[in-house]
Amino acid sequence: MRITMVGTGYVGLVTGTCFSNIGNDVTCLDIDPKKIEKLHNGISPIYEPGLDELIKRNVKANRLHFTTNKAEAYQKAEIIFICVGTPSDEAGHADLKYVLAAAADIGDAIERGPGDTGGDVDERRAKIIVVKSTVPVGTNAKVKAEIAKRTKKPFKMASNPEFLKEGAAINDFNKPDRVVIGCEDKGTGDRLRDLYEPFVRQGHPIFVMDVPSAEMVKYAANAMLATKISFINEIANLCEAYGADIDEVRRGMCSDKRIGNQFLYPGLGYGGSCFPKDVLACVAMGEKSETPTTLLKSVHQVNQRQRQAFIAKIESHFRSLPDHPGLAGKKIAVWGIAFKPGTDDVREAPSITIMQHLVKAGATIVAYDPVAHETAHHFMNDTITYASDPMAAIDGADALIICTDWDEFKQPDFEGIKSRMASPVVFDGRNIWRREAAREFGFVYHSVGREPVLGEQACLWQ
Ligand SMILES: NC(=O)c1ccc[n+]([C@@H]2O[C@H](COP(=O)([O-])OP(=O)(O)OC[C@H]3O[C@@H](n4cnc5c(N)ncnc54)[C@H](O)[C@@H]3O)[C@@H](O)[C@H]2O)c1
Repeated sequence: MRITMVGTGYVGLVTGTCFSNIGNDVTCLDIDPKKIEKLHNGISPIYEPGLDELIKRNVKANRLHFTTNKAEAYQKAEIIFICVGTPSDEAGHADLKYVLAAAADIGDAIERGPGDTGGDVDERRAKIIVVKSTVPVGTNAKVKAEIAKRTKKPFKMASNPEFLKEGAAINDFNKPDRVVIGCEDKGTGDRLRDLYEPFVRQGHPIFVMDVPSAEMVKYAANAMLATKISFINEIANLCEAYGADIDEVRRGMCSDKRIGNQFLYPGLGYGGSCFPKDVLACVAMGEKSETPTTLLKSVHQVNQRQRQAFIAKIESHFRSLPDHPGLAGKKIAVWGIAFKPGTDDVREAPSITIMQHLVKAGATIVAYDPVAHETAHHFMNDTITYASDPMAAIDGADALIICTDWDEFKQPDFEGIKSRMASPVVFDGRNIWRREAAREFGFVYHSVGREPVLGEQACLWQ
């Protein structure tokens, strides 16, 4: 099939590449010429494990193309996937300006285009415009209206929310737990089912449903996952207040099959470009329809508070120092900037909130992330410096903060860390170190939902 992906971000580039990899002819369109130039030079504008290789292979096979030429990309496509961003606006609503701009371009291109959809063309061969971006219920109807304003030629609409996870996106797309297709007629559903059939050979389902339900599935799934994270963080905070250990509580709780153990890890809360905005979009949908979303408002509040509580822990430690209390002039090392491991995405990352706060309080930050320095610079500018490896970041540091659970931080050289830091104080926002190891090597160690290790603290400052 001839496919055009609109937007070469985390979703459009990965899904477009995977569609091309099974033999489709795919064009990835973006309005950002820098991204397209990079792609023409064989460089992926995002970090996603395995993606560079897959892009190279399919470009070489002449199945994967990149362009900024809208008219050409839209006119030649049989199926167009809109994969542009839907960030929160100031009121928390999903901002549809990119989606509707793409719809307008598509309408213009169809109208001006020659080809297969003109005149009394067979309806069954009309272009399908698929909204893959995460959008509030009712958006497909708006996209359809926007296109229909600009052309009388036939086209079909569909919703196809994407469930891939950054860091495991290629595998998620190639072997999805399910595919959700929302459409208005059987023919469109069948054509999209054909496209996805090669990805579900292992028996995973393709659900074809009405458009509003398909739009809602994605929000419901993300809201559920965000709820699990806020839930376990709230329990972790109670553990901390009462001297219980969240690791033990988690084990005891999650062995109940009805609960399960996925997505129930305490930490700094969720970040990234999806959960925060999607929870807010659900709340905004509730407000618009006067439907209470009490639970989801709390999920959001708990998540915001989690970062603040962690910052308060750091501040409290530095306030208690006898000689030079406070954060001003302190050197802080940060390990991990990406909102989770496996990606360079730092949108809504807890690390950014924490670093911005510490910089404001006068601390000097030296940060290390295996892949996210470039994306972090966009938010932090030159207010922090970046180390070339984790050990270089901690040289002379008054504290180390772990913000992302990259594997390489899990079993470090504890002895080396301790000897290179000015004081061996660690704030582990992801609970990736064992408390026993921290105690054994003489760290002051704060984590989430577990009692701090303060063993040598008394003698540290004497
Ligand atoms: N990132 C994820 O893990 C993920 C997962 C599932 C769903 N989603 C959803 O998918 C959508 C896209 O997310 P993303 O993270 O890939 O976004 P992104 O910001 O990484 O990429 C969006 C791209 O669209 C381009 N663009 C904007 N307007 C355009 C236009 N008119 N024509 C062509 N290109 C245009 C931008 O330049 C950008 O490159 C969002 O709605 C998001 O919620 C994201």
